[in-house]
Amino acid sequence: GKGHADALVIFGVTGDLARKMIFPALYAMVKRGVLTVPVIGVASSPWTISKLHKQVIDSLKQAGKIDDQPALNRLLELLSYVSGDYNDPNTFQALKQILGKSRRPAHYLAIPPALFSTVIKGLAASGLAHGARVIVEKPFGRDLASARELNRIALSAFPEAAIFRIDHYLGKEAIMNILYFRFANSFLEPIWNRNYVKSVQITLGESFGVKGRGAFYESAGCLRDVVQNHLFQIVALLAMEPPAFQGFGAVQNEKAKVFQAMRPLRPDDIVRGQYSGYKKEAGVAKNSKVETFCAARLHIDSWRWQGVPWYLRAGKYLATTAAEVVIELKPPPQMLFDDAISAHGRSNYLRFRLSPNSAIALAARVKRPGKEFVGEQQELFLLDEQHGAETPYERLLSDAMTGDAALFTREDAVEAAWSVVEGVLDTHSPLHTYQPGSWGPKQANTLIAADGHWYDPIL
Ligand code: BG6
Repeated sequence: GKGHADALVIFGVTGDLARKMIFPALYAMVKRGVLTVPVIGVASSPWTISKLHKQVIDSLKQAGKIDDQPALNRLLELLSYVSGDYNDPNTFQALKQILGKSRRPAHYLAIPPALFSTVIKGLAASGLAHGARVIVEKPFGRDLASARELNRIALSAFPEAAIFRIDHYLGKEAIMNILYFRFANSFLEPIWNRNYVKSVQITLGESFGVKGRGAFYESAGCLRDVVQNHLFQIVALLAMEPPAFQGFGAVQNEKAKVFQAMRPLRPDDIVRGQYSGYKKEAGVAKNSKVETFCAARLHIDSWRWQGVPWYLRAGKYLATTAAEVVIELKPPPQMLFDDAISAHGRSNYLRFRLSPNSAIALAARVKRPGKEFVGEQQELFLLDEQHGAETPYERLLSDAMTGDAALFTREDAVEAAWSVVEGVLDTHSPLHTYQPGSWGPKQANTLIAADGHWYDPIL
């Protein structure tokens, strides 16, 4: 899997993902000069190359991005198009012709998971998997069994080192900064454990609904859509041990250990909610039991984290669009002052704001002027400038092209993460209705009550 790919093949090039995410990323890569190899789109629609060009231009216009006409022209020159059925060997022969002397193509499967196996078999049968790598989009399976099956199919044609599984959260600067901040500073390590940390919370709020993706969302639900993947990846970066060596493999090993140490979730560790009005969305069943909100209490049975609860919540139509981590420290052993900080009161916490902006804040109490020893909580604020950063797709696609797998997920980790949620997928645990614009059903507050309360991100 080493070395720069000498062509990029995009299966599903006429689809939504290509239009929304991939074309803007390719354009940015061309502008930076990191994409100079042929890009071959494949799809079953009988499109022409000029139709594909038009789609690319429309996509960039929608993203408000065309500020470099020569770069756009270069991108269009790199593109070609193969139309054909993925079940037809001729489609792969046509692709082979266009690939010509390419020896190290990267095949990007921007297609529904139901088609993965057909395309991978087609690639293998035509010899196009040889020396190539494959980039796979989420969702990577919908439970442990289907994830294993996908891994089996992918591994039948590609070695693990050539399989690049995308979780776009790993391409976000703010999330890479969790890893960096933890291990580039020395003041955190002494307190980064069960002796000082009282609890950890992660909130991923979105103030909008399923945005026309009702049919897709019906097959997923909140737990599958963002918790098992995006939130768990954040947990792994927060909880992992320092890697033993530099480079790929070391971080992956430590992250995999975190997933292995996660206690499998039980139904009473989960609160599921559905926003009022979800059942009226296009593509959604009238009696849908799919959750659009999910809160979970998670335990990591490791030396470092034994006994520390991790609270995760995510949902559609919540009060704010923001993602945030709050690491709450235990209160001081005694309250010497008149402050009314109860056992559940906040003393110190570290807050990672991940989006929409990126920042790290450390909360501490400071005395207010006056005769009384009464204080207030203030935040020391580190702003993490994102100016000029690559977007997640730009970053991940360039890494996949150069063969750097550090920001991709590994077979064992993906399966271990599915094992954690296996017992609560599609359970008939109650589904609570919540009002759009709230922070989800009140049962989520009950879930956390023994350890405090949720910190709602404030913009
Ligand atoms: C996707 C989910 O993986 O992540 C969406 O399918 C969700 O439902 C999205 O909205 C959130 O990503 P981001 O980058 O907008 O926070």
